[in-house]
Amino acid sequence: MKLWGGRFEKDTDKLVEDFHSSISFDQRLYRQDIQGSIAHARMLGEVGVISRAEAEQIISGLEGVLEDIQVGKAEFEVGAEDIHMNIEKILTERVGSVGKKLHTGRSRNDQVALDLRLFLRDEIDVTKDLLVKLVETLLALAKEHLTTWMPGYTHLQKAQPITFAHHVMAYVQMLTRDLERLKDTRKRLNFSPLGSGALAGTTFPLNREQVATELGFDGVTLNSLDGVSDRDFAIEFLSAASILMMHLSRLCEELVIWSTGEFQFVTMDDAYSTGSSIMPQKKNPDVAELVRGKTGRVYGDLMALLTVMKGLPLAYNKDMQEDKERVFDAVDTIQKSLLVVEPMLRTMKVNTNVLSEGTKKGFTNATDLADYLAKKSVPFREAHEIVGGLVLHCVKRNCSLEDLTLDEYKRYSPVFENDLFEAISIEYCVNQRKVQGGPSPEAVGKAIEESELQLSLIKW
Ligand code: ARG
Repeated sequence: MKLWGGRFEKDTDKLVEDFHSSISFDQRLYRQDIQGSIAHARMLGEVGVISRAEAEQIISGLEGVLEDIQVGKAEFEVGAEDIHMNIEKILTERVGSVGKKLHTGRSRNDQVALDLRLFLRDEIDVTKDLLVKLVETLLALAKEHLTTWMPGYTHLQKAQPITFAHHVMAYVQMLTRDLERLKDTRKRLNFSPLGSGALAGTTFPLNREQVATELGFDGVTLNSLDGVSDRDFAIEFLSAASILMMHLSRLCEELVIWSTGEFQFVTMDDAYSTGSSIMPQKKNPDVAELVRGKTGRVYGDLMALLTVMKGLPLAYNKDMQEDKERVFDAVDTIQKSLLVVEPMLRTMKVNTNVLSEGTKKGFTNATDLADYLAKKSVPFREAHEIVGGLVLHCVKRNCSLEDLTLDEYKRYSPVFENDLFEAISIEYCVNQRKVQGGPSPEAVGKAIEESELQLSLIKW
């Protein structure tokens, strides 16, 4: 007999039972469900809705159920629909009819909203640790490569010289914002919906604050309809997760490009690469590719939940049961991705010579040559045109700007002097870019310090 079977004269159709049951996936919430029930039962005992002795019986029963589930002794049933009713059923089998009092003043609607908030809070904390570790690895990589010159790109065409440290630090900035977004999501979800009931609260004199405090919430939700029916906290998490994956995906895309025979900027460790079943010479960056590919899953999770929610009238609707698999999938995907990207970066070999050589071809110092003229009072637009002509000249002769003689330079502008050669040396070009946020070793050194401070302040 169903827990809600009282008003029914017929059994649920088998197909329907299977279709609407969520136990196959929401059993993942068992810990949070029991945690919430224990707090609810304790509070019911304290406000006198049930006796203290009954509350204690229920609580120790729930602790027993938790243990049984953990050691794989508990059996869930599709017929009991979801994790909430399965646990209540197992509890009642264990402690007898007092177990049937647990659901007083509560609905599965506020219960599931609670469980998902608790679950996400736990998983955000796990994700935070993984993300911090990745940022620390990137910071260490940056420190090692403050003076490793490399070409910076726009349109995937060589643009201006930068340092490898500077490139790495760009990702530190992105991932630090991801960390802030997760922290922010956590802050907004950390309110207890318990007491919202099915939709209209309850007539029992519940102490919502007590439950919230026991469960580590910052307070209670302030509207019962909202408390049971919004999933914006999950959507916020999925948005933050999507942005994080987008960042990881860009990083991985660069690693894929950088580890090609054409670039050879980095060499992946064997442990983080895979081979081909037919081509014996192959060493592929599958890990990086797979992270890039999995980004689509997380975007899909976000779009799915946004779409589920967009047309729902207040308050709870069964459509919302679809939230959990999307959240679980995103949690698993971002955690597994972070877990594997960190050691992949830590173990990869950075080919500093290739990176530095890369600044030499491709006129990455052309802007500096134009700046040189501009600093000698040639209007920048004119300087741009003069250097454009010089570059064309070099392209035709298949040489670099530093290969031309002063005489050749003077044919393009009388302003050129011997000091131009220093002005276009890669070292000078990078070192002079001392502006805050720029690539010079000096500026990046400061950026690293600031990032370390920022990181220590956002951790929670
Ligand atoms: N399994 C349900 C879900 O995940 C729990 C809430 C069910 N509430 C209801 N009124 N049918 O959404």
